[in-house]
Amino acid sequence: MKQAKLAVERGAVISAVDKRLYGSFIEHLGRAVYGGIYDPTHKSADEEGFRTDVMEMVKELKCPIVRYPGGNFVSGFNWEDSVGPREDRPTRLDLAWKAIEDNSFGLNEFASWASKCDSEVMLAINLGTRGIAEARDLVEYCNFPGGTKYSDLRIKHGVKKPHNIKTWCLGNEMDGPWQIGRKTPLEYGRIANEAAKVMKWVDPSIELAACGSSNKDMPLYGLWEEEVLSECYDNVDCISLHQYYRNSSGDSQSFVSKGHEMDMFIKEVAAICDKVQAKKNGKKEIMLSFDEWNVWYHSDESDKNLEPWTKAPRRLEDIYFFEDALLVGSMLVTLINNSDRVKIACLAQLVNVIAPIMAEPNGPSWKQTIFYPYLHASVNGRGTALRVLSSSPKYSCEQFSDLPHIDCAAVHSEELSQLTIFAVNRSLEDDLEVEIDLRDFAKAAMIEHIVYDSAKLDAKNGPVKSENTAPRLIAPSGANERFIEFIPKASWNVFRFSV
Ligand code: AHR
Repeated sequence: MKQAKLAVERGAVISAVDKRLYGSFIEHLGRAVYGGIYDPTHKSADEEGFRTDVMEMVKELKCPIVRYPGGNFVSGFNWEDSVGPREDRPTRLDLAWKAIEDNSFGLNEFASWASKCDSEVMLAINLGTRGIAEARDLVEYCNFPGGTKYSDLRIKHGVKKPHNIKTWCLGNEMDGPWQIGRKTPLEYGRIANEAAKVMKWVDPSIELAACGSSNKDMPLYGLWEEEVLSECYDNVDCISLHQYYRNSSGDSQSFVSKGHEMDMFIKEVAAICDKVQAKKNGKKEIMLSFDEWNVWYHSDESDKNLEPWTKAPRRLEDIYFFEDALLVGSMLVTLINNSDRVKIACLAQLVNVIAPIMAEPNGPSWKQTIFYPYLHASVNGRGTALRVLSSSPKYSCEQFSDLPHIDCAAVHSEELSQLTIFAVNRSLEDDLEVEIDLRDFAKAAMIEHIVYDSAKLDAKNGPVKSENTAPRLIAPSGANERFIEFIPKASWNVFRFSV
């Protein structure tokens, strides 16, 4: 059997992990809101119409922050439509997704839902059809205590205490031709800067993410980030990255290796931020908000047949394969290993729409394959990210050469006296025997080794629990400082140690 070695040392610190690295996303899109988190007709609905079965799963994920209300949707959204008495809220055309939006669920309902899930809100403003004035008013509505037009309006709407939303997105994917109100980098950089300035005048404690390119393949990628940041460097804190991967060619070995591409993407954007900082002789390091990431392609064909102008159609309802969970695991490993720069990341999305959680109308909610790596990383990945020293056999595939079989990250929690190593064996051919060296941690003892593997890369989950793939536990190998562990081919592994 092929062999690999991993070693972790206390001093090899990458960064404190910002808990927002394990964020997610709810957009007014398909059945994410209506029929997902909100369904007053469902038997589990609480007094506000929130599905409590879905809420339990979100809580299990310990989702620290949820981005809202879009996505492409936000670029045509008037936030004022979504607050106040329901009977006064207008029904509108959602041009982004060719759907009907009746605004029966809005900003205050979302804030209440997030607080019931113990999550924070990451709120996006509309810089497609709107601008500085509406952004200013929205911060005032959400965060100002009272005594002004919009803070008093919030109080009149029954929300006495300000929402105190700390993390904001300055629009969404403004370089995309599909975006309502697409802009050139200069146009966007200017409006992002002016909106950011005024928003921070209303509440100086907020943190703002400017839009980077919609993905790494956009024609202006690189140039966009540089020009935008040249305009708004002084007033923003982060720039966004978005990336969805697909296995359209059927080359699963290249597909599960795409975490490597994500890693290069992050390093490139960080380098551009540093270039702008240097040009400006700036003191501030711009951080990265990877606020949309996932696998997305399974629903492409079925979405072509959707009727336009319906409310909450089954759009973007990807049913994930096991191999998608491997890539999601690798993407999480990549985020942790870049946690010195990536402070926010949102698995897009959370419920029904390219999501780890599915909710059947009048039926159960259930966990997709990608639920598990996200759960394990979010629950065990809080603390300090440590660099793992590794030697692993390497492989080459159609898209990449010389990649280590093992893709791994480590997080040390002083608070819990716990060290967790997340490891994907990306090889679809070879099992591995791995030696884990924790000599730097006196008396390290393994608490558990969780393995998630499957006989079939295209295994899927569904509403019937007994038929689903799920992680399993392997008996811990006891107290020691060097552990010899078996890692099956194509598997996601979590090693938890008390240290
Ligand atoms: O998450 C689905 C969509 O993907 C979002 O609305 C958009 O921002 C991205 O293109």
